Amino acid sequence: MITLDLSADSAATTVADAVVIGIHSSPDEDGPVLAAGAESLDKALDGALAATLRQLGASGSASEVTKLATLGATTAPVVLAVGLGGEPADGEPIDQDTLRRAAGVAVRALKGNERVALGLPLGDLDAVRGVLEGALLGGYEFIAYKTPSANGRKEPVSQLTLLVGDALDKADKALKSEVKRAQTVAEAVRRTRDWVNTPGNYMRPPSLADAMRDAVAGSGAKVEVLDDAALRKAGFGGILAVGDGSDAPARMVRITYSPRGAKKHVALVGKGITFDTGGISIKPVAGMGKMKSDMAGAAAIVNTIIAAATLKVKVKITAYAPLAENMLSGASYRPGDVVTMYGGKTVEIINTDAEGRMVLGDAIARAAEDDPDYLIETSTLTGGQVVALGNQTSGVWGSEDLRSRVVEAGGRVGEAMWPMPLPDDVRHGMDSPIADLSQTNHSGERAGHMLQGGAFLAEYVPEGLPWAHIDIAGPSYHSGGAYGHIVGGGTGVPVRTILDLLDDIAENG
Ligand code: BES
Ligand code: MN
Ligand code: ZN
Repeated sequence: MITLDLSADSAATTVADAVVIGIHSSPDEDGPVLAAGAESLDKALDGALAATLRQLGASGSASEVTKLATLGATTAPVVLAVGLGGEPADGEPIDQDTLRRAAGVAVRALKGNERVALGLPLGDLDAVRGVLEGALLGGYEFIAYKTPSANGRKEPVSQLTLLVGDALDKADKALKSEVKRAQTVAEAVRRTRDWVNTPGNYMRPPSLADAMRDAVAGSGAKVEVLDDAALRKAGFGGILAVGDGSDAPARMVRITYSPRGAKKHVALVGKGITFDTGGISIKPVAGMGKMKSDMAGAAAIVNTIIAAATLKVKVKITAYAPLAENMLSGASYRPGDVVTMYGGKTVEIINTDAEGRMVLGDAIARAAEDDPDYLIETSTLTGGQVVALGNQTSGVWGSEDLRSRVVEAGGRVGEAMWPMPLPDDVRHGMDSPIADLSQTNHSGERAGHMLQGGAFLAEYVPEGLPWAHIDIAGPSYHSGGAYGHIVGGGTGVPVRTILDLLDDIAENG
């Protein structure tokens, strides 16, 4: 955990191991321009801060970091200047995501320091949100399976101080609630990352269900866990078909949050495959280890409902996390099988690696019985998502209006999303000669591969219910080096998007 406090101290006098300030690039390239928040430091350094940074090679371009020792001129011994790119046009605020990324970069670059003060420009509460989320998330590291002093490893920053300056009043109620929100949201994202990063041997359906139960405790939401017997009794054929191949039995976690005065009810569903070998249609060796992250959707929706309950968002929410491990054994389901899903529709299995839609079809059908006003589902559903949209842009399907609202919410919080279609020809390719529906294109054809997943899930959504499916196969897990507030491994996408959408629904219906 990172602690966070507010201070009205200046950047020059705040007590910290390092202080972060922002710098802009200038159009005529005559060196960086100091952003608001850096004034006191500049004064303590006799007005030489911008020129000194320039001598050190700083330009102010986005996410550039430059460190400077102040040799006793300021209370904190080190200043880190982070680039914010060009200055916004007159009167315009600095883009929130620019601040989020910059704060993330800065806190990452200060690893090994205990206490870091943030002297970034804070024009309004949007800026506060960006800086705090970025700092709390950029400081994330997954160290659960490293011995404490291994290889002289530097510890992540553990204390943050937000310098609120003159622009904001430290005691302001709206500011305080923004701080609480940032802490709650960051905790939800960090816990999502932890679960996604946890190896498959430490996280199988029963232990993930336990972790979910523990995490929900105290939030104000209620948990119910369906075990193997309960799943069989209720006829969750899709979840069981996938889960039966594993020695660790499947679970379904159902979480409810019903605040007084809520006008809308949102159902959340997330794919929870704790490890995806592909099953009998086994995956290639290369990269299979990444399939420990195939429960990223379930992790995201559970942590979203926890955050929403903690923040008392005025929307009723029911979350469903179907959990199973897709393994190979004498009890695995096979290509050619016919599976009876929850609610009675039958599916002809084409490829056991298309297991996500099996557990999700069941969960969506069950969620619809609660009569929600909206249904939002998210999953690491298809490799096709990565092929089509890359590693950082999620694909969104569903009813037009909700699909647009999801994409817009993603844009507001800096989680890229793109709308995708459900063409009739793709759906027709999924007719089966022996069951109600074929699990994928019946000939196994990969045309519209990523769309087939959406078309399958659409079959479980009742007519007229606004719904959205968010494929996060790429964006939920980052394989490369860190950037902005994103570090290697689980990213926590799309927790912040769904939380923002819930706020939107609370306000606008
Ligand atoms: N979990 C995978 C999708 C995935 C791929 C997630 C890469 C993250 C990164 C999913 O269960 C899967 O295997 N999908 C198949 C579906 C196919 C067999 C119809 C795919 O995308 O190839
Ligand atoms: Mn699979
Ligand atoms: Zn999968």
